[in-house]
Formats: sequence, structure tokens, C-alpha cells
Amino acid sequence: MKESSLPRTITGIKPTGRPHLGNYLGMIRPALDLARSGEALFFVADYHALTITPPPAEVREGVLDLTATLIAFGLDTDQNIVYRQSDLPELCELTWVLSCTCAKGLLNRAHAYKAAAQDNLAHGREADQGIGLGLFSYPVLMAADILAHRAEAVPVGRDQRQHVEIARDLAESFNRVYGSVLVVPEPIVDERVMTVPGLDGRKMSKSYGNQLPLDAPPDQIRRWVSRIVTDSRSPSEPKEPDTILSLYRSVAPEAAAQDLERRYREGGVAYAEAKSMLADAIETLIAPARQRHAELMADPARLRDILARGAARARASAAGTLWAVRAATGLGWGQVPARTTASAKPS
Ligand code: ADP
Ligand code: TRP
Repeated sequence: MKESSLPRTITGIKPTGRPHLGNYLGMIRPALDLARSGEALFFVADYHALTITPPPAEVREGVLDLTATLIAFGLDTDQNIVYRQSDLPELCELTWVLSCTCAKGLLNRAHAYKAAAQDNLAHGREADQGIGLGLFSYPVLMAADILAHRAEAVPVGRDQRQHVEIARDLAESFNRVYGSVLVVPEPIVDERVMTVPGLDGRKMSKSYGNQLPLDAPPDQIRRWVSRIVTDSRSPSEPKEPDTILSLYRSVAPEAAAQDLERRYREGGVAYAEAKSMLADAIETLIAPARQRHAELMADPARLRDILARGAARARASAAGTLWAVRAATGLGWGQVPARTTASAKPS
């Protein structure tokens, strides 16, 4: 990896469903931008995917698909590290150790669990019905992902910010008990993009079925854009900022986006024209990666080889932290000098 004074970054994405434009604009693009000027690790979070028990073939296919997507959009696998989460079983060990200094109440407030519990209550069920321990402790595994590599910065979409904040809390509570062993990471959220809207104006998400898959061919892009919901204003009427404009701002050059924004404000653009401009801008953005993605997916052995090399480098990257954690906690026979506090109570 590059020698650099820039922060060491890490980010992960779950292999559940095809990656979509929201994943790219909210997380993949900013993470790749950061990776160009510093040290970066990327991984496919297959352990995390198990919280929804997808079919095994889907997990494996998803791992290859996401790896191909990252590379197709510019990840340099020599400069940076890409790996599959489950190739680092040490993460499960670190998850357990972190869970011993993690306050349970912190996880009660984690949004993925809270949303599932609230949904149960709203439907007259017991709060915890059908909620697995894996979903509840999801943020602890996520903290292990980050802390194992002493990552300083974690590029994620806005909805993942809270999980990175939990990783900060877990690093701090471990360090309070055992001394300064773990690096406290920062979330990095791309403020320009924040939440990318989908067809219906809600957050683009696999869970809402309102997403545009990243490898969509031109005719699918056009059909998808044509289904974006608009009001019935005529071309000459001024228009409110909407999903079309918001997406256009994220995919088109700045000057073109400002121009469309002005035409919205002043009147003078039909929704059909704005949609056509949006479809063209999305096509320009994703076309170069489409071919590369298809080529990579046609050679799964090569992708598996890239992941195996990445896993070896990632294990080496995590080894020092795991050694220090074992030594600090009394696991294994390694010794670290002295611990700063004696309290073992999660705060
Ligand atoms: P989904 O909501 O479709 O299941 P994931 O939860 O797998 O997506 O998200 C993977 C990454 O992409 C996360 O960092 C997440 O914050 C980011 N992301 C997902 N959807 C969006 C969106 N609509 N806008 C911005 N970022 C997003
Ligand atoms: N929870 C993230 C998501 O759903 C994926 C993820 C797992 C992750 N571990 C991580 C992201 C560590 C950043 C860092 O999108």
C-alpha cells in the first residue's frame, strides 16, 4: 500500500442483492476517491449478510459481484486491499472480546435493531419477535471490522454513520479498561450526496425495491428514469427541486447541474427533457464500468484469486491488533506493560 500521511480507511458492503446507484454514489465512489490518495481496505461483508440468512449461493455470488463492481469502478487491487470478511475469522474473536466491554444498552439504540423492534411493536407483536442475536450485535462485528485494522476513517453512506459511532464508543470503552490499544475511527459521510433518492423519492434501497442496479444497460436506465414520479407542471412553469434534479446533481458535472437547477427555478424545462438528460448522465457515469464488470464476472477464478491475495494481506494487517488485544486482555501468553484502569464494567 502507499506510504502516506492520509488516514487509513476501511469500508465494507454486504453481499445481499445487486449493488445499486445509491451504493455507488453514497459509499463506493467516495471510498474509491479516498483510496486514490491513501491506504485503503475494502471488504465484502458476508458475515453481516447472514443476519438475513440469504441462500448460500446468493452470498457467494454477491461476494464476486461486489468485488467485480469495486474493481470495475476503479479499485486498484495492488495499491489497496480487497477481501472477503469471512476469510478473517479473527474478526469473530475480536467481536467477542469487544462485546465484553460493550454496554448492552448501546446496542438497544442501534438503528437496525431499533427499526426491527419498532416494526414489531407497530404490528402488535413482541418487540424482539424474530430478531436474531446476529442483528442485535451487528454493530459489534462492524466495530471489529474497523478496529482490527487500526483504521482512522470509515467512508459510509449516512445511514451507517451511527454504526461507526458505535465502533468509536467500543474502541473507547475497551481502551478505558485495557489501555490505549485500539485506534478510535471517524465516519466519513459525503455531504454532497447524503441520501440518494430512488424511484419513489424515498432513500434508494434494496429494501424498498426502488433502486437502479449499477450494471443496468442503457434501455433499463431509460425505463427506470421514465418511471420517476413527477407532478404535472408544464414545461414553462417553475419547478420544485425533486428526485430528478437531486439525482442529476449527483451524477452530472457541476456546471450542467447548476444549469438544470436554474431552468427548474425559472421554468423552461419539461420533465421529459430533464429525465432524458438524467438518463444520459447516468449512462455516461456507469458505461465504462459495465463492460469491465461483465469481463470480471466471466472469470470467477480470477476474482477468487484476487480475494485470496487480499485476505492474506488483510490478515497480516489485523495480526498486530489481535496480538495486542490478546496481550492486553490476558488471552494467550503475550504480555503488554501495564493496564491503565482496573474497572471491567461496561459503561
Ligand atoms: P441497501 O439500503 O440498499 O440495503 P446497504 O445497506 O447495503 O444498501 O448499503 C451499502 C452502503 O451504501 C452503505 O454505506 C450505505 O450507507 C450506502 N447506501 C445505500 N443506499 C444509499 C443511498 N440511497 N444513498 C446513499 N448511500 C447509500
Ligand atoms: N454495515 C455496513 C452496511 O450495511 C457494511 C459494513 C460491515 C461496514 N462492516 C463495516 C461498513 C465496516 C464500513 C465498515 O452497509
